[in-house]
Amino acid sequence: MGRRILVLPGDYIGPEIMAEAVRVLETVNERFTLGLSLEHGLLGGAAIDEHGVPLPDATLQAARDADAILLGAVGGPKWDNVERHLRPERGLLGLRSQLELFGNLRPAILYPQLADASSLKPEVVAGLDILIVRELTGGIYFGEPRGIRTLENGERQGFNTYVYSESEIRRIGHLAFGLARQRDRRVCSVDKSNVLEVTVLWREVMEEVARDYPDVALSHMYVDNAAMQLVRAPKQFDVMVTGNMFGDILSDAAAMLTGSIGMLPSASLDKNGRGMYEPCHGSAPDIAGQGKANPLATILSVAMMLRYTLDEADAAAAIEQAVSDVLDQGLRTPDIAAAGQRAVSTRDMGAAVVAALRG
Ligand code: IPM
Ligand code: MG
Repeated sequence: MGRRILVLPGDYIGPEIMAEAVRVLETVNERFTLGLSLEHGLLGGAAIDEHGVPLPDATLQAARDADAILLGAVGGPKWDNVERHLRPERGLLGLRSQLELFGNLRPAILYPQLADASSLKPEVVAGLDILIVRELTGGIYFGEPRGIRTLENGERQGFNTYVYSESEIRRIGHLAFGLARQRDRRVCSVDKSNVLEVTVLWREVMEEVARDYPDVALSHMYVDNAAMQLVRAPKQFDVMVTGNMFGDILSDAAAMLTGSIGMLPSASLDKNGRGMYEPCHGSAPDIAGQGKANPLATILSVAMMLRYTLDEADAAAAIEQAVSDVLDQGLRTPDIAAAGQRAVSTRDMGAAVVAALRG
């Protein structure tokens, strides 16, 4: 026991949604005697304001020492003009890469209560349950060389490098296939192997990994087609596995199928299953400080943390049930409210989940 959770609220709506997630975490900590202790740290813009850097050494050390990390959201216009290497997002990317959190799990599940909130027809999304497994510490996000240089003719040129080594592809492949075994046993690997050599290798290595999982069906899809299929017939997918940038884009699209990105949690895992948990959405500067943010994605991230890293499936299930209960009660933050429906605040939504947990 005595497990440590590092809480990193971040920027704009980050602290608002985190306050509710922490109340939920404290409630299950008590009710299930989990023996968790919570510690707070600074990341992103909040860290820049205090220490001049987006990922202070103290935060990195606390993250290394923690059993799991709960993150709100980082970034926003306040730091638009800081130097590129000091941007808030760099704090998040630094944490992902320093802790080798290579496996990003982004489930897109449609709560039946929210079928009307999706921008797609209810019959297209009813029962939707997709898991996007995104590689998180490689690919074009981290490839070198990178930068903006000035050519001899005085013109500037921006450049990045899209690179994956076999071992990076193999480990995310194994994670995806292992997870598929707990679901419908289908993996769709998304690449652009008709154009990019790096993803020709990606496809080859996925085929190799698949040999270890004869009970799981592997298919391949080009990323452009995958984007189209996600909005055309999303229920054809079970697990999708893809690289860092494609996963970033496809997971936003998948999120919207469920009505609101405000509902979607995520896990970022290292090879030992230790991880960082965060909502899929960003810091939403436009609605910060108004009590309009949906705390459910962060609350559901707490559930993922309990399930994947802390091995507390009962507490995780209790949170998921409580979220389902408050949706049944008709509570909606503005992002998931139907036209003309009265919306509740961030705080009220969090309080309702806590009340449902207490039964
Ligand atoms: C995400 C975000 C991040 C990413 C940003 C904030 C750096 O969009 O987690 O999807 O691109 O990975
Ligand atoms: Mg993103």
